[in-house]
Amino acid sequence: MRYFYILSTIVFTARVIALPSYASLSGLSERELDAILPTLEVREPAPPPGPLEDPSAKLVNDKAHPWKPLHPGDIRGPCPGLNTLASHGYLPRNGVATPVQIINAVQEGFNMDNSVAIFATYAAHLMVGNVITDLISIGRKTWLTGPDPPPPANVGGLNAHGLFEGDASLTRGDAFFGNNHDFDEALFDQFVDFSNRFGGGFYNLTVAAELRFKRVQDSIATNPEFSFVSPRFFTAYGESVFPINFFIDGRRNDGQLDMDTARLFFQSSRMPDDFFRPNGSRGNEGLLDVVLAHPLQPGKNVGRVNSYTHDPTSADFTTPCLLYENFVNQTVKGLYPNPTGRLRKALNANLDFLWLGINRTGGCAQIFPYGRD
Ligand code: HEM
Ligand SMILES: *[C@@H]1O[C@H](CO)[C@@H](O)[C@H](O)[C@H]1NC(C)=O
Ligand SMILES: *[C@@H]1O[C@H](CO)[C@@H](O)[C@H](O)[C@H]1NC(C)=O
Ligand SMILES: *[C@@H]1O[C@H](CO)[C@@H](O)[C@H](O)[C@H]1NC(C)=O
Ligand SMILES: *[C@@H]1O[C@H](CO)[C@@H](O)[C@H](O)[C@H]1NC(C)=O
Repeated sequence: MRYFYILSTIVFTARVIALPSYASLSGLSERELDAILPTLEVREPAPPPGPLEDPSAKLVNDKAHPWKPLHPGDIRGPCPGLNTLASHGYLPRNGVATPVQIINAVQEGFNMDNSVAIFATYAAHLMVGNVITDLISIGRKTWLTGPDPPPPANVGGLNAHGLFEGDASLTRGDAFFGNNHDFDEALFDQFVDFSNRFGGGFYNLTVAAELRFKRVQDSIATNPEFSFVSPRFFTAYGESVFPINFFIDGRRNDGQLDMDTARLFFQSSRMPDDFFRPNGSRGNEGLLDVVLAHPLQPGKNVGRVNSYTHDPTSADFTTPCLLYENFVNQTVKGLYPNPTGRLRKALNANLDFLWLGINRTGGCAQIFPYGRD
C-alpha cells in the first residue's frame, strides 16, 4: 500500500510538473495541489482597469495590430472575439493572457463595456484560469486534434466543457459530439441560412432570436447530455447578440451583420480590412429581445434525447443576483472546496474583482465563501 502510494505520488508529480503555467488549479485534490503549487511562479493580480476614456469608433485593424496566421503552439478556442484579439495582437498571439490583458483587449479592440468585460473575464479566470500564475488560456494548441483530454488535465482553458463553454453554440458543436471549440462549417451554413430567411441576408436581432431557439431545439433532440443551466443559460443569450454588438463596423452601426464579415470573425479570427470598432461601449444590448421572442426555462436533458427538464435551482432572467450567488457559492466553491494559504488569498482577490463587474450595475450583495480578508 505504502509503495503504491509513493509510486503514484511520483507518477502524479511527474505529470503535474509537465503541466503548463496556465493549467487551471480548479477541481484538483489537496494532494494534487500540494504537488503543483510549489512549482508555480506566483504573480500578484493587478486590479482590473476602468472604462476607456474615449470609447468612440476608430480603426482597430491598424498597422500596429495586423492579422497574422497561427504559429505552431498558438492557442485558440470557442470564442471568436478573443481568438480575433489574439490573431491581431491585442492579446498575446499565443493565446495565453492575464485577466487585465483580456479586459484591456476587449475594451480597446471591440469597445466592450467595462462591467461586462470584468464579470466575464473573472468568471472565466475563476473557472478555467490559473489564479496563482494569473494566466488564462483561451483554448488549446491549435494543431492538436481529437477530443479534449479529460479532467484533471486542466489544460483545456476556455474549451473546458460545462464551465464557461457550453452547449447550443452558434458555430461550435456540443461537447457530446466530440468538438466544442473549432469552427463548424455545417453550423455556419445554418447561420447563413437563418440570416437569409429572417434577416434578408444579414444577421440581426430577429435572426439571433430564431437561431438561438433553433440551436436549443436541435440540442434537445440530439444530445442526451444537453445542459442549459446557469451560467450557460445566460452566456448563450449574450453570445447570440455579441456578433451584432461587436462585429459590425462602427461607421455602419445599423445592427445588420453581413455574412462575409461574420465568416471572417467566426472562422478566421480576423477583422475585415479597415475595420472600425463599434461607436461607444456596449455589452448585452438586445439580449432581452432574444429571450422574449422564444422564452425558455433553464434545464437539461436527463440522459436521453427529448427529455428536457426544468432545473428550478438554476438562476434565470427573473433572478439576476442568483447568477452571481450560484456562481460563487456553487461553481467556484465546488471547484475549490477548501483552499488554504496563498491559493485562498488569490481566490479572494479574484472574487473581489469579479464583484466589481456586478456591483456597478447589479446591486447584488457580495458573497465571501472563503471568509473576508
Ligand atoms: C470578456 C472576455 C470574454 C470571455 C472570457 C469569453 C469567453 C467565451 C467562451 C468561453 C465562449 C464559448 C461559449 C460557447 O459557445 O460554448 C464564447 C463564445 C462567444 N464569444 Fe466570447 N468571451 C469574451 C469576450 C467576447 C467578446 C469581446 C466578443 C465579441 C467581440 C465575444 C464573442 C463571442 C461570441 C460571438 C461567442 C459565440 C460563439 C458561438 O456560439 O459560436 N466574446 N466566449
Ligand atoms: C432583420 O432583417 C429583416 C429583413 O430585412 C427585417 O424584416 C427585420 O426587421 C430585421 N430585424 C431587425 C431587428 O433589424
Ligand atoms: C459616434 O457617435 C457620436 C455621437 O454619439 C457621433 O457624433 C459620431 O459621429 C459617431 N462616430 C462615427 C464614426 O459614426
Ligand atoms: C452562500 O454560502 C454561505 C455559506 O458559505 C451562506 O451563508 C449564504 O447564505 C449563501 N448565499 C447564497 C445566496 O446562497
Ligand atoms: C459598489 O457600488 C455602490 C453603489 O454604486 C458604491 O457605493 C460602492 O462604492 C461600490 N463598491 C465598490 C467596491 O466599488
